Amino acid sequence: MKIAVLGTGMVGKTIGSALIKLGHEVRMGSRSKGNEKALAWVASNGANASEGTFADAAGFGDLVFVATKGEATLDALNAAGAERLAGKVLVDISNPLDFSKGMPPSLFICNTDSLGDITTARGTEMLLPLWVRTWAATGNGHFSFKVVR
Ligand SMILES: NC(=O)c1ccc[n+]([C@@H]2O[C@H](COP(=O)([O-])OP(=O)(O)OC[C@H]3O[C@@H](n4cnc5c(N)ncnc54)[C@H](OP(=O)(O)O)[C@@H]3O)[C@@H](O)[C@H]2O)c1
Repeated sequence: MKIAVLGTGMVGKTIGSALIKLGHEVRMGSRSKGNEKALAWVASNGANASEGTFADAAGFGDLVFVATKGEATLDALNAAGAERLAGKVLVDISNPLDFSKGMPPSLFICNTDSLGDITTARGTEMLLPLWVRTWAATGNGHFSFKVVR
């Protein structure tokens, strides 16, 4: 399958590489073709890996993963272009994290809305405030949650 991964950070690279290992063709998108991080990711992921602008990637993928910095996600999606995203499944894993007051971050959207529109909010989105507060209380982000039914 042809898949777009918008984002050149740790998350985009990890998801992109995992999709390549599963046999998919992946195009990584960023603000500019020839992005240094995207080129390095392509170089280490073989012939099924390519890179381009957000628009290039969105046009390429039948499925689109969004792994951009939260505050830039809407700009990235606008750059990708509504016409290139129309009718495609879009998996948005970006978070509305606010790092302006240092670490740990807080949330720049919460309570009454979410980054991806509260009507489509994921179940895991409820975890985000808990994650941020646990980070603040423990002083580090190295912990896991176990969900027990
Ligand atoms: N759901 C989860 O479990 C989970 C876990 C970890 C992280 N996340 C989220 O995943 C996302 C990616 O995290 P990350 O650490 O890999 O990367 P990141 O540093 O948060 O984001 C990197 C991407 O954002 C783009 N970007 C930055 N500023 C921009 C702007 N002004 N306009 C357009 N694009 C811009 C960059 O574009 P360029 O490539 O052009 O520089 C790059 O592709 C974040 O939202 C993070 O909160 C989710």
